[in-house]
Amino acid sequence: MKMIVTGGAGFIGSNFIFHILKKYPSYGVICLDKLTYAGNLSTLKSVMENPNFRFVKEDICNRAAVYRLFEEEKPDVVVNFAAESHVDRSIDNPEIFLQTNILGTQVLMDACRQYGITRYHQVSTDEVYGDLPLDRPDLFFTEETPIHASSPYSSSKAAADLLVLAYYRTYGLPVTISRCSNNYGPYHFPEKLIPLTIANALNDKPLPVYGQGLNVRDWLYVEDHCKAIDLILHKGRVGEIYNVGGHNEMANIEIVKLICKELGKPESLIKFVADRKGHDMRYAIDPTKIHRELGWLPETKFAYGIKKTIAWYLENREWWEEILSGDYQQYYEKMYQNR
Ligand code: NAD
Ligand code: TYD
Repeated sequence: MKMIVTGGAGFIGSNFIFHILKKYPSYGVICLDKLTYAGNLSTLKSVMENPNFRFVKEDICNRAAVYRLFEEEKPDVVVNFAAESHVDRSIDNPEIFLQTNILGTQVLMDACRQYGITRYHQVSTDEVYGDLPLDRPDLFFTEETPIHASSPYSSSKAAADLLVLAYYRTYGLPVTISRCSNNYGPYHFPEKLIPLTIANALNDKPLPVYGQGLNVRDWLYVEDHCKAIDLILHKGRVGEIYNVGGHNEMANIEIVKLICKELGKPESLIKFVADRKGHDMRYAIDPTKIHRELGWLPETKFAYGIKKTIAWYLENREWWEEILSGDYQQYYEKMYQNR
């Protein structure tokens, strides 16, 4: 089996590559990644020498280059992680989100049609469903929940999902889609809540919390997401959407306080800042379908996963310190200076 994994130099894609190469030693994996600010080749250093692995630096929007790669490698399966993934950046400048997340998806699926594959898997997000109110803890996103995206990021992911389903219906492309809740774990880019809080706390810097910190996210350890995609690829039904989440809802302020506690840092570092525009209140996944059909259940409990994640950031300081010292500094100042 030969697999093209796009966006494999990012957070979830790299964890997925590690999972696949370890679990299936006979599989070939080609990582196609543009290496945007969020892609980091050093993340993949442990697999670079693996004869079953190849890295290709390329933009999924570059049709000629993508077709060339398909012609050369003749992949069986494509898993598309490549995306602009940060909501705050999408609010600041939506354009690249529409290019990569929608048009890039189209290029990949056109290549799949042209060269033939057994599966195209789209890694989507629960954010396509919009949000749920805080006073209705009985409500969850199912695969039947209507798409109701709020941010330029989530609407670009929703548009891509619609296109994927259209390619299934119109051209019979063998597709699947997973819509996962918020992930956390190693190699998470430090612009996102959990790694940003860990990095700032370790540097005794203010911990920015948007609004009152009451927004709820449904956190899943990244390896559990990778295992879910693995199951969908091997056992999932073509044309289907699978929601992925582990019923682990927490308010942002709880997460930030927990990280302070784990690191022995004072809560006085917490700084409430201006809220995100259009900020989604609550995400919560109903994972019944993937559990019933494929037997998936999350394995890592949050209490343990967050300790493992913090330990990883402590042991791999050079990975995130290098990011903090680069262009990221300008982003941070722009986003947080006068907030
Ligand atoms: P990330 O931002 O850490 O990584 C994205 C990767 O895609 C980077 O390596 C980047 O270089 C690459 N990339 C970006 N544009 C590209 C392009 N035009 N061509 C080729 N490569 C490109 O993102 P992530 O958090 O790992 O998310 C991966 C996928 O999972 C995304 O599709 C995202 O929507 C989805 N997702 C993320 C979460 C989460 O909590 N992080 C949850 C559910 C779904
Ligand atoms: P984030 O990690 O950006 O993921 P998403 O927006 O895709 O859920 O943010 C998670 C939550 O944390 C979200 O409600 C916004 C909030 N947040 C803060 O309060 N402060 C921050 O500095 C960041 C980056 C996020």
